[in-house]
Amino acid sequence: MTGTVEIGNVTKRFGKVEAVRDVSFELQEATTVALVGHNGAGKTTLLKLMLGLIRPTSGSIRVLGEDPAAGQFAARRFLGYLPENVSFNSALTGRETLTFYARLKREGSGTVAPLLERVGLGAAADRRIGTYSKGMRQRLGLAQALLGEPRILLLDEPTSGLDPALRRSFYEIIEELRRQGATILLSSHALTELEERAGRVVIMNRGLKVADGSLDELRRIARLPTRIRLKVTASDLAEAQNRFASLGEWRRVNGHQLEIDAAPDRKIEVLRRASADDSLVEDIDVAAPTLDELYAHFLRSQEVPR
Ligand SMILES: Nc1ncnc2c1ncn2[C@@H]1O[C@H](COP(=O)(O)OP(=O)(O)OP(=O)(O)O)[C@@H](O)[C@H]1O
Ligand SMILES: [Mg+2]
Repeated sequence: MTGTVEIGNVTKRFGKVEAVRDVSFELQEATTVALVGHNGAGKTTLLKLMLGLIRPTSGSIRVLGEDPAAGQFAARRFLGYLPENVSFNSALTGRETLTFYARLKREGSGTVAPLLERVGLGAAADRRIGTYSKGMRQRLGLAQALLGEPRILLLDEPTSGLDPALRRSFYEIIEELRRQGATILLSSHALTELEERAGRVVIMNRGLKVADGSLDELRRIARLPTRIRLKVTASDLAEAQNRFASLGEWRRVNGHQLEIDAAPDRKIEVLRRASADDSLVEDIDVAAPTLDELYAHFLRSQEVPR
């Protein structure tokens, strides 16, 4: 399957700084991919390369089969972009601003009002942007990126400044577009919120791609332990710790729980033994490694699994 975006051995240097080093990946339609990494990892640089705003020092980039840095980049109209620092003319209203961008994209002004509604700015459409909160400006930025039903959405830290409820509605909009076939790449620092949202995660560190895969794949590769907690009555704690001692090192938590980090190949055995003993164990909690833990692991190891 050919991707909607193809990045092949791309390096981008700014003077002595190698912002992106020999990075390759493909993005497919109807997927949401998270691009994560610390400050300066190269996320924004990658997005700008895909938009054709800057050229790679070496390597090749194809967006819908075209070179975005070429003079003729007809596919540009299928791209939606939300820059990391959205800034608008504060003297204009939301409606005026979006109408302006619609004209730039050669979209009819009829799309403006429904888009403002969609991002929850319907009631504030005729207020000056100077009176908008940060979250409102961010949502106006999103509306701007959504103009023209883009096939590829490049969103640079789209949820920064959004409260939890707005984040949820943002991800609902994103998910709807994905289902309709859009390719969505979003960069983020906010790892935990991506857990259920992105089908795939690309981890960047200092210009290098250090991991790429679904959360499940990355969990398998990283072989991080699963945290298992047993709830026992306080009086049984010592006995339980004794009985399960052969399974590994248990920690006491909150006076009535035992916790262990089980390696992937021990996990089932721990669960089987603990659940067989229902006279002692009242409840079992299983926590798979989080995206934050995976992220820390791959930054430490700097290995490229694929
Ligand atoms: N125009 C430029 N000129 C010089 N150096 C640049 C330029 N753009 C980016 N860089 C450098 O490239 C590296 C990667 O920057 P980039 O903006 O891609 O990081 P990022 O992952 O988006 O970081 P953040 O999370 O802070 O937004 C940094 O060291 C940055 O200083
Ligand atoms: Mg950035």
